[in-house]
Order: sequence, then structure tokens, then C-alpha cells
Amino acid sequence: MTTHGWLIPPPAEPSKSREDFAQERVAKVAWLTEQGLLKSERIRQALLKVPREDFIPHLYRDYAYLEVPLPLPGQQSTISCPHSYPLFYEPLGLDQGHRFMEVGLGSGYGTAVAREVVGDEGLVVAVEIDPVTFAFAKENLDRLGYRDVVLVNADGGLGYPQLGPYDRIAITAACPELPPPLIEQLAPDGRLIAPVVEHDVQMLVLLEKTAQGIKRRELCPVLYVSLRGVYGGSGGSGNT
Ligand SMILES: C[S@@+](CC[C@H](N)C(=O)[O-])C[C@H]1O[C@@H](n2cnc3c(N)ncnc32)[C@H](O)[C@@H]1O
Repeated sequence: MTTHGWLIPPPAEPSKSREDFAQERVAKVAWLTEQGLLKSERIRQALLKVPREDFIPHLYRDYAYLEVPLPLPGQQSTISCPHSYPLFYEPLGLDQGHRFMEVGLGSGYGTAVAREVVGDEGLVVAVEIDPVTFAFAKENLDRLGYRDVVLVNADGGLGYPQLGPYDRIAITAACPELPPPLIEQLAPDGRLIAPVVEHDVQMLVLLEKTAQGIKRRELCPVLYVSLRGVYGGSGGSGNT
């Protein structure tokens, strides 16, 4: 099956063992390090700990560590490629004690990784607009014991001011513009990362709220599903 240029492997009954997945996880972390995408020891430990295969729909489970986005229950939802998580969390400088908000919960995998990184002293709030995807992620996170993350089924473009401000925000869907409520909910010295559609190309953008004002840096081109809701648009053309 092909969607927007990505080759999604065909659904199949899974046959890999826990040991197979554990080996693939270690190999993936080594590869991400070699590629220069993964540098932080806390993010490295989190990626080694969280079993990505437990966030993948049954018939795609064997593909858990392939660099392809995989379909999730719900409309246009995907679990992003494994490299997407250090791609977002390294420039954010996600670390112990941070108050972190993820817009686009998807499978719950990125939420679990973030929870491992921020630790008990931090906070993870994850917002998902699609009720079917939300139920899938909640079931995954509950089953794996991630019960102290705050999961919200709502339009994440509006953020979640009740628990703000946030030190770090990641938007995992492509935005026509950065949603103003999310910039408002960013703490002083906070950072926000998001794919932003610019002239039909999605650019991963890092925003920093400094005493001198907002600093904006473009990191690299990416391909994500479109943000839905009030600040959504039709610019997203892919899914990582
Ligand atoms: C690429 S997926 C996220 C993958 C996820 N981080 C993971 O680890 O599985 C993008 C998600 O953003 C969700 N989404 C799109 N627009 C949204 C919005 N306005 N608020 C919250 N979630 C949204 C989609 O339903 C989809 O689940």
C-alpha cells in the first residue's frame, strides 16, 4: 500500500519474539547515534526502555523498527518513523523535570518516551483530536503502566492552558502557521518544535521564547500528516 509516496508494508500476522524486538531496539538506537540524530543520554535510555512494538497495531507489529510511518486506528493517524523522536526531542533539549506538551498523541509512543525523559519531577500532557486514535493510545499507555501522563481528547491547536505554561512543546502534525495559543502557553526560555508548511514544503521549525523575544530556526524538511482543528489546514501531504 502506498500513501503519499511512502511504501507501507502489507499487514501480516506478527511472528517476531520479544528477543527479536529487543535486538532491533538496541540496533536502532545504535544507528540513530551513528547518524548523529541521537546525542542525549536520557533520550537514549528512554528509547532503549520503551517497547515501540507495543504501540503498533497488531498486523503491523513486526515492522515496529522500520523507518516507515505505520497506520493507526482513526482518520489520517500514523505512528511516526523511529528517527522522528530524537529529531524532535534533541533540538528541544527535552530533559529531566520539564513540563512537556505533545500535540498529536497518535499511538502514545512519543508520550511514553517523553515521560521517561522528563522523569517523576516533570509533567507530560498529550492532546489528540481523533477520538478513535485517542482510545488506542490510552489503551497502550494504560497497559504499559504510563498512568501518570495527562491525556486529553481535544483540539491540541488550542493547547491545554489548565496545566501550562510548558517548558517544551512538540506538535507532531503539519501546521499552516504555529498556533498562537501554543506560543502563549510556552514558558519563558521555553522551546516549541513543529512541522510548518512553507510554499508547499514542510519545514521543521524550532521556536525559542527568550528575554529578547521569539527566536525561530528552520531545521530540515519533513513530511507529516496535517494538523486538524481550528489552526489546521490542508498543507500536510505525508505521514511520518
Ligand atoms: C504523526 S501522528 C503522531 C504520532 C505520535 N507522536 C506517536 O508517537 O505515535 C500526528 C497525530 O496528530 C493528530 N492531530 C492532528 N491534528 C490535531 C490537533 N489539532 N490536535 C491534536 N491532535 C491532532 C493526528 O490525529 C495524529 O494522531
